[in-house]
Amino acid sequence: MSPCVTSTNIPSEPPRLEISDPKKSTQYQECVNSLKLSKETMLKIGKIFHEEMELGLSLNPPKKSSLQMCNTYITQLPDGTEEGEFLALDLGGTNFRVLLLELSKGQLVREEVKHYHVPEALRLGHGITLFDYLAKCIYEFLKEHDLEKRRLPLGFTFSFPMDQRGLDSGVLVTWTKTFNCEGVVGEDAVKMLNDAIHRRGDLNVDVIAVLNDTTGTLIQGAYLDPACGIGLILGTGSNACYIEKAEKVLRWDGGKINGTEEVIVDIESGAFGDTGVLDFIRTDFDRELDRHSLLPESFTFEKYISGRYLGELARLIMVKLVNQRSLFAGVGSEKLLTPGGFTTRFISMIEADTINHSTDNVRIVLDELEVNFDADDINIVKDICYLVTDRSAKLVAITLATILERMNKPNSVTIAVDGSLFKLHPRLSTLIDKYIQEFAPGRKFSLLLAEDGSGKGAGLTAALALKMKNKL
Ligand code: BGC
Repeated sequence: MSPCVTSTNIPSEPPRLEISDPKKSTQYQECVNSLKLSKETMLKIGKIFHEEMELGLSLNPPKKSSLQMCNTYITQLPDGTEEGEFLALDLGGTNFRVLLLELSKGQLVREEVKHYHVPEALRLGHGITLFDYLAKCIYEFLKEHDLEKRRLPLGFTFSFPMDQRGLDSGVLVTWTKTFNCEGVVGEDAVKMLNDAIHRRGDLNVDVIAVLNDTTGTLIQGAYLDPACGIGLILGTGSNACYIEKAEKVLRWDGGKINGTEEVIVDIESGAFGDTGVLDFIRTDFDRELDRHSLLPESFTFEKYISGRYLGELARLIMVKLVNQRSLFAGVGSEKLLTPGGFTTRFISMIEADTINHSTDNVRIVLDELEVNFDADDINIVKDICYLVTDRSAKLVAITLATILERMNKPNSVTIAVDGSLFKLHPRLSTLIDKYIQEFAPGRKFSLLLAEDGSGKGAGLTAALALKMKNKL
């Protein structure tokens, strides 16, 4: 059975919003009104997304697209013939992972994984220090498994916007999420990794593929289900990739294999709206969140939908209501007033309450925030968590619906998804599924949890890269 995550048992309805004080109720509605997106607005966003995809693919676009539409050079999906031992690196969150994967007749028969923490000092320090650390982790991993002497091919998942010049070349366009290292933007991440490996002089690995985590997720999804055509990450950050007709992709600096029909395109959908095309849905809360983010004025869409930001959005709404004296009797706590004081994990907990018609979690969260609350406050906080979730689900769904329409496949397309937000939120998948059906009526699709696409997918991609290189 495929691990399809969409469950029909989970209700998609909002919480019942009962606010006893009519003045508070009006103030609340006015405060959150801008977060509610009508179907008409959503369809308009879908149209813009499609235009931006086209612009991003053009060689000489009449105007700049906010979507990078990067060629990944991956033109094949796993077909059950992948063989061998591969190293995989996964960098993108606060953990860095090294994996050893063994494939036999396309099946994963062995997997060793080790996590290494990437402290803030490394995430915000100099790039050379970061890559030296990655090389050190590879060495330690190999030593632990008695593999230091072995020559191993390596797939590198580097989950940031890259301009790929081939399967094994990816120039960093900009940092996102929690990274901002000096000296890497504009540089080839594979070269920086290779340089760090050579500086050590005690490693014998060949970096043969660099990929984005969405690509890894699509590949891992295709390993689980051959109908897979889209990869989506909903975690700290967000992004999607899909299988495009090769004739639509015009940049092939790294060479195109004759007869190539399809190729995976990394949309970098997190940057959707960076040119201002989505400003009509931007609320004061979004503007404030952006102003105080690590990388302001970039990754507009990601800031509407992903795990790094949803909790903070909810917090900003609560702070405004406290200032208007319509929440917590107008008294905020130090935790509530501190950026980052309300995390996306809290949203998942409170949404679970809404599903279960309970108030247990919301009470735990509000106690943790050290605020005094009454029944109205509980209802308002639940509604805020629903609203930011619902907006995120709608925005993700409209991009997926647009991709499905564009792919125009007669059969069902499987959308492989991974990422902490998707996995931990109790009903984001239910909402996304519902909205895709609404925005792309009649399109057949299913959402599939493709866990660890950025790890296993990197191993599989390294195996595919070996096969593709032999064809070039
Ligand atoms: C990055 C993407 C990545 C996504 C999910 C975004 O911030 O730009 O490349 O796929 O996060 O990790």
